[in-house]
Amino acid sequence: MTVTETEVVLEAEGLTKHFPVRRGLRDLLTREHKAVHAVDDVKLTLRRGRVTALVGESGSGKSTVARLLAQLYGRTAGEIRLHGEPITVRGGRKFRAYARRVQMIFQDPFASLNPTHTVRYHLTRSLRIHGRAGDLEDNLRDLLVQVQLTPPERYLDKFPHELSGGQRQRVSIARALGADPEALLADEPVSMLDVSIRLGVLNLLRDLKERLNLAILYITHDIASARYFADETLVMYAGGMVEGGDSETVTQNPAHPYTRLLIESAPDPDRLGELSKPEDQAGGEPPSLIAPPGGCRFNPRCVHAMPKCSTDLPPRFELPVAGHWAACWLYEEGAAR
Ligand SMILES: Nc1ncnc2c1ncn2[C@@H]1O[C@H](COP(=O)(O)OP(=O)(O)OP(=O)(O)O)[C@@H](O)[C@H]1O
Ligand code: SF4
Ligand SMILES: [Mg+2]
Repeated sequence: MTVTETEVVLEAEGLTKHFPVRRGLRDLLTREHKAVHAVDDVKLTLRRGRVTALVGESGSGKSTVARLLAQLYGRTAGEIRLHGEPITVRGGRKFRAYARRVQMIFQDPFASLNPTHTVRYHLTRSLRIHGRAGDLEDNLRDLLVQVQLTPPERYLDKFPHELSGGQRQRVSIARALGADPEALLADEPVSMLDVSIRLGVLNLLRDLKERLNLAILYITHDIASARYFADETLVMYAGGMVEGGDSETVTQNPAHPYTRLLIESAPDPDRLGELSKPEDQAGGEPPSLIAPPGGCRFNPRCVHAMPKCSTDLPPRFELPVAGHWAACWLYEEGAAR
């Protein structure tokens, strides 16, 4: 099946989030309203049975995108559609109904599980909240089997501190599955785990994607793991999307100068576990998001920058491979590359 034939679960268009900055005396006098431009005009589509990676260095806005999609943050502008229907929810019953279909998995499983409660408590709570507490014992066991924590009896009455990091993340995934969701938003789900167990957790997510036909957003600093794990890859820089396409094309034939820089400074993809630190991943400094550079936000770091790059924001230009695009003036028709 081609990308466009698979069912769209969640879409965002024009997604924008500006965080107001607390104003100092000078700003009050000048009446300036400063804001962190964390996410600007982001477009993305999550489809059933597919993993979409969102890759970028620290501070590029990846977590903010996930939190906007999960409706944990209100947005400054843009639209989020679930099965084509525009959705805005803030708290209450509507939020619960939305969270049943769109679940988040966080980076730190230790922080996201309550240390004073057992695995049984966390999973029961999830099943209850989402109205699936009938056949409770069977459902609890089933959730643990789904995340390969077997036999389930060995784990049900354990506290988080009695589990390894990988087991805790599996419990977090089981808790998300307790809602029987259609989309999982996984924010760096393996970056805090030991190198040796990262692949196991990614393989589990891939297996769940296939068995449960889930749409997965996989957020990562590491473009090598995106190639391994994701069907489609989107690259984010300083609050905006700069390139997207199928993972093989984006990682093997990157078009945007920023994506090329990410790949050049990434570790060897065959050594997936040895993920580099975010600050190692690109030369130069990312820009201030309070006063981002005009035009293309990458222009102060770009060796190919042309005069219009600092004045005009490049749109998405389609590239020869279907579905591959880059937001870069190099790909404007007639531009010298
Ligand atoms: N609640 C907030 N209030 C103000 N600024 C915020 C808030 N959350 C994020 N930001 C800012 O928005 C920008 C994007 O942050 P975000 O956490 O989305 O980046 P990220 O790509 O997830 O980074 P990392 O890889 O380090 O997790 C950063 O400049 C950050 O400081
Ligand atoms: S638009 Fe210009 S500055 Fe931005 S990546 Fe392309 S060439 Fe570089
Ligand atoms: Mg983040």
